[in-house]
Amino acid sequence: MPTLAYFLAFFLTFSVSTAAFVHPGALHTIQDFERINTHVTNGDEPWNIVWTLLTESPYAQSSYLPTPRQTVYRGYNGVNSENYPDLYRDTAAAYQLAIRWRISNDTTYAEAAVNILNSWAVTLTTIDGTSDKFLASGLYGYQMANAAELMTDYAGWDSTNKTATGTMLTNVFAYMNNFFLEDHNGQDFYHYWANWDQCNLASLIAIGIFTDNQTMNDNAVNYFRTGPSNRALPGFAVANYTEPESGKALTQSQESGRDQGHSTLDMMLVGVIAQQVYNQGDDMFTAYSNEILNATGYTSKYNVGYHVPYIAYDSYMGTQTVISNSSRGDVRPGAELLSAHYGQLRGLNSSWTDAYRDWVNGNSTDGVEGGGSNYGFTSGGFDGLGFGTLLYRLI
Ligand SMILES: *[C@@H]1O[C@H](CO)[C@@H](O)[C@H](O)[C@H]1NC(C)=O
Ligand SMILES: *[C@@H]1O[C@H](CO)[C@@H](O)[C@H](O)[C@H]1NC(C)=O
Ligand SMILES: *[C@@H]1O[C@H](CO)[C@@H](O)[C@H](O)[C@H]1NC(C)=O
Ligand SMILES: *[C@@H]1O[C@H](CO)[C@@H](O)[C@H](O)[C@H]1NC(C)=O
Ligand SMILES: *[C@@H]1O[C@H](CO)[C@@H](O)[C@H](O)[C@H]1NC(C)=O
Ligand SMILES: *[C@@H]1O[C@H](CO)[C@@H](O)[C@H](O)[C@H]1NC(C)=O
Ligand SMILES: *[C@@H]1O[C@H](CO)[C@@H](O)[C@H](O)[C@H]1NC(C)=O
Ligand SMILES: *[C@@H]1O[C@H](CO)[C@@H](O)[C@H](O)[C@H]1NC(C)=O
Repeated sequence: MPTLAYFLAFFLTFSVSTAAFVHPGALHTIQDFERINTHVTNGDEPWNIVWTLLTESPYAQSSYLPTPRQTVYRGYNGVNSENYPDLYRDTAAAYQLAIRWRISNDTTYAEAAVNILNSWAVTLTTIDGTSDKFLASGLYGYQMANAAELMTDYAGWDSTNKTATGTMLTNVFAYMNNFFLEDHNGQDFYHYWANWDQCNLASLIAIGIFTDNQTMNDNAVNYFRTGPSNRALPGFAVANYTEPESGKALTQSQESGRDQGHSTLDMMLVGVIAQQVYNQGDDMFTAYSNEILNATGYTSKYNVGYHVPYIAYDSYMGTQTVISNSSRGDVRPGAELLSAHYGQLRGLNSSWTDAYRDWVNGNSTDGVEGGGSNYGFTSGGFDGLGFGTLLYRLI
């Protein structure tokens, strides 16, 4: 016989899923932390080893102090020195401290995380530099919004400061995200590479969730699904191939002929977008018949050392006649999320994505997917939030 609690639970679930965002609910949900906490409490591997790795990170210490800037510069414009490492380091720290709080329940980490967010909220007004400023608005926008979203239900976060964080994310980051997606820095829709649109979309989706801005979220999700830019999901796929031995489709993607550092960055970013959307009850993982799986399969197969077919691609910088072997085998976090979703949750054949995940982990500290501080200290090591072996792996 269903109890009153059952009906209440049903009613609350129903009303939440139709009327508002799930919180926390960008990259991670309460259910995710129940699974993660169980693994950590039980000392299960490989979750425990990556949890230990996180606790050793310089960005996950409660003594961490931020360096907020009024203007962040990415790309040397001939006048102002670049200072954007302060932003990506502080953002990584806010995220890692937030994760550390959610797993340890120790509020000293929560305090350190909200201190970082608050300090940027009252300081940052502008992101400038060269056109690379739009990479900063996208990459650090989605990351900071995810750190904020992880803290959203922390009772110790002063509501005025929480609101100020949302206002800063909207007025500085989302403003630039929207501007870039509409205008492409004064260029047409064929200019720029996929990762530029993807990081700015990931940012709008995360900020939309944190600030409960349905319009912002919906606009970005629709853009990713349908365009208009050819860097959105339909245009991201350049060609489909059938792998003869398995019958599986592999999809050449927009940056395959450019270099593998950016192709693997795209892989990480489409995973972030799809996960954020999935946690609000929509599904980009299945869009265009699992296009994301097929595209990451293609990129993964090539990067772990196998041949893939390729057709010439007309980029805005000229025709690319061969797949680029530049930075082939690039090691960056992001594949754990994709393997967990497609292979472990959906039961699809994600063998190539799994192979790239294992390649990355095999080349990483302790054989697991780490995060900021585990992949060098230049910007590439901070494009992805990482720690996927802890945060996404199901089995
Ligand atoms: C933290 O709290 C959660 C939820 O109450 C619980 O599941 C988890 O085991 C706790 N973790 C620790 C390390 O106490
Ligand atoms: C709000 O954030 C500011 C800036 O970091 C900080 O000085 C202030 O103490 C915070 N207020 C509260 C009530 O936490
Ligand atoms: C919500 O997002 C839309 C679209 O990005 C924006 O125009 C609007 O100003 C945002 N609302 C608030 C309250 O910030
Ligand atoms: C690849 O296949 C999918 C699904 O069958 C289709 O929607 C898409 O248009 C194809 N892309 C290309 C570039 O042929
Ligand atoms: C992805 O692969 C599946 C199975 O191999 C195939 O059915 C589907 O059409 C492919 N999708 C695209 C976009 O190529
Ligand atoms: C990388 O690609 C270039 C250009 O196609 C080619 O000349 C070179 O031999 C390739 N290098 C390797 C190691 O495959
Ligand atoms: C998954 O695909 C790979 C090749 O892409 C194939 O070798 C393997 O047999 C497939 N696994 C299953 C269980 O079908
Ligand atoms: C990563 O690991 C593979 C084999 O596990 C190795 O062949 C490759 O050179 C490594 N790549 C890097 C960049 O360390």
